[in-house]
Amino acid sequence: MSKIHAAITAVHGYVPDYVLTNKELESIVDTTDEWIISRTGIKERRILKGEGLGTSDMAVHAVNGLLKKRGITAEEIELIIFCTTTPDMPFPASANILADKIGAKNAWGYDLQAACSGFIFGLSTGAQFIESGKHKKVLVVGGDKMSSIINYQDRTTCIIFGDGCGAVLLEPNSEGNGVIDSILRTDGAGRQYLHQKAGGSARPASHQTVDNQEHFVHQEGQAVFKFAVTNMADVAAEIMERNQLTSEEVTWLVPHQANKRIIDATASRMGVGAEKVMINIERYGNTTNGTIPLCLWEWESQLKKGDTLILAAFGGGFTWGSVYLKWAY
Ligand code: UT7
Repeated sequence: MSKIHAAITAVHGYVPDYVLTNKELESIVDTTDEWIISRTGIKERRILKGEGLGTSDMAVHAVNGLLKKRGITAEEIELIIFCTTTPDMPFPASANILADKIGAKNAWGYDLQAACSGFIFGLSTGAQFIESGKHKKVLVVGGDKMSSIINYQDRTTCIIFGDGCGAVLLEPNSEGNGVIDSILRTDGAGRQYLHQKAGGSARPASHQTVDNQEHFVHQEGQAVFKFAVTNMADVAAEIMERNQLTSEEVTWLVPHQANKRIIDATASRMGVGAEKVMINIERYGNTTNGTIPLCLWEWESQLKKGDTLILAAFGGGFTWGSVYLKWAY
């Protein structure tokens, strides 16, 4: 019997309407359009506006679009893995909230927190449920409302992040397409360089934590950059070597969109030309868990059955990893 792989059979995405341009940021913090573009590659990012709207509200758009495309109902979904660093609330899980909002009455679900690597951790985890035969329809959602934890007085972080969400459906495939391999890594020692200090059990919210601005993203950019540029490139090269893939055989590199310079270094390490790299950082910035599914969504019409994709990410934690998958449709 041929091995069952977990194939992506549908993808969809959603970004909010509001466009926060570099020009507008120039009026908020001491920065310039030229600096932001040259250091990050970002020109604009989307921001979710509206009282009471959270990450799950973007996911509703992404998932409803996906279900329509695939021609299935929400009731057919068996499992929802919601990869996010900005859940609607600490509990219950955004997966539960999403299931309720879309009417996925037969699904169970949970949130997965691995910062910017969350989507590939979720994809790899979701694939196990398909490969084992436990489930036939698994939704992996990746999205963040980063604007909810960004300090718009801090020029080193507010220029990078944006809001957005993407989702994929995983189903069994016996033609050899789907998730073939993954390498996932964590190093908790890196938490000092990128974290949100307060709001968890170690430092619950208080007047003091709010006054100290401890509910915002704290990032030591240069330190994170050094780890990201090395580890993301290394892990992408490692998965190619492990699967005896040459750069010619790679159809697409789908990188986490944190900084154009990190993406370029990864592509160069893999020996993959710019024409094979999905990049939309200039329009969306870093949407954390949203970057990779949003790329897949935007490039969907160019993807062909059997295409070889290498997904790679690096994020807070530290977390990093890569996934090798063959496109199924
Ligand atoms: O996705 C999760 C993982 N995150 C990442 O991968 C992000 C990794 N880090 C980065 O992408 C980059 O480190 C940043 C984009 C955050 C910063 O770029 P950088 O080239 O590393 O800048 P830097 O922190 O070394 O700062 C260089 C200079 C500093 O000024 P001085 O000390 O040389 O006078 C900063 O104060 O640039 C200054 N600066 C800015 N200038 C204008 C920092 N932010 C800005 C800004 N506009 N927005």
